[in-house]
Amino acid sequence: MSSIPVTVVIGSAGRRLYLIDWFRQAFDTLGVDGRVVVTENDKTSSSATYGDICRILPSYGDSAYESALLDLIADLEPLLFISVNDYELLHLHVTTDLADRMRQSGVLVPGVSAEWQRGCADKLQMAKMLTAIGVRTAPTVAGGDSAGLSALMAGSDDVVVKHRFGSGSSGLAIVPAEKAAEAVSESLLSAPTTTGGPPSPDDVVVQPRLSGVEHGIDIVGALRAPGELAGVLARRKMRMRAGETDKAVSVDPAPFTANSALIAEASGLTGLIDVDMFLDENGLSTVIDINPRFGGGYPFVHLAGADVPLYCLAQALGRDVGQEWASYEPGVVSAKYESVRVTARESASLPDSAQ
Ligand SMILES: Nc1ncnc2c1ncn2[C@@H]1O[C@H](COP(=O)(O)OP(=O)(O)O)[C@@H](O)[C@H]1O
Ligand SMILES: [Mg+2]
Repeated sequence: MSSIPVTVVIGSAGRRLYLIDWFRQAFDTLGVDGRVVVTENDKTSSSATYGDICRILPSYGDSAYESALLDLIADLEPLLFISVNDYELLHLHVTTDLADRMRQSGVLVPGVSAEWQRGCADKLQMAKMLTAIGVRTAPTVAGGDSAGLSALMAGSDDVVVKHRFGSGSSGLAIVPAEKAAEAVSESLLSAPTTTGGPPSPDDVVVQPRLSGVEHGIDIVGALRAPGELAGVLARRKMRMRAGETDKAVSVDPAPFTANSALIAEASGLTGLIDVDMFLDENGLSTVIDINPRFGGGYPFVHLAGADVPLYCLAQALGRDVGQEWASYEPGVVSAKYESVRVTARESASLPDSAQ
């Protein structure tokens, strides 16, 4: 019998200290001896010393990352590995087969198929994938597609220009349709590319500006049954800050469940993904963005009563906790706030003359 505590790894935990707390609470609720391992690239980040164990990993592009990660898995034998960083997720699921290799050694690594993982990073591709499975999404054209752009401009008052491979609202501009080409030229100056070369207009996408009200949705899939929808959690965004939801109110997820089931099934979802959807006056929802991880909007449903860490741990342990984890009170308004903690002490480094 192994005496290793139940171990959860949160990759690139960054500023998400609340996730560490909520996994710890889930251990308590389930009455198990557990520990949260944080991996970080920066040993003085706010989360690095907040978990039970911290492992400093090389950055994903570094050839030493793979062996450091596999050593961690061998040493700590986690039951569950989640990452909250899009670039790390791409590296694990798409660029390499590390997610599958962790799975082969018995670790649950929730996520979506490699194809969907790739789509989540590419807003043009994602629009095609969503359309192909019958999920409404904003019509999306590449900035270099002049015929597509003209057609889109002719049919819209305002358009949204944003980085095709962006996140956190990068390169975002909302302009009158006739200013679209200008906004593309401006946005591409800072656009990330996949080739590493200079950005081109195709590294920017253009969409009509959607009407309706923006919501953040967590789609949760069963951890051991890919594609099976386990829960849908929703909040109406009230304020954004630095590309993240800053204030939101929990709402009934019913208008979003049909899209959620289609996405879960097509993507082979296990665990949680964070999805932006607009809800129009006819009750129709349109998807604009998918982040295949715990996103900055999850706290707004957790504080209203949902508990995805508990569900994930229970699934990992083969325990039945019913559906209570997916129910929450609608109408709960929550807002983020600043906090700060000491993360290290530098050794005395005053020059001799100053002592
Ligand atoms: N087509 C659109 N219509 C209206 N608002 C949009 C549209 N596309 C993006 N936005 C706004 O810009 C924000 C960022 O865009 P999004 O597609 O979610 O990219 P990311 O979050 O990856 O930067 C959204 O949260 C939304 O507020
Ligand atoms: Mg988004």
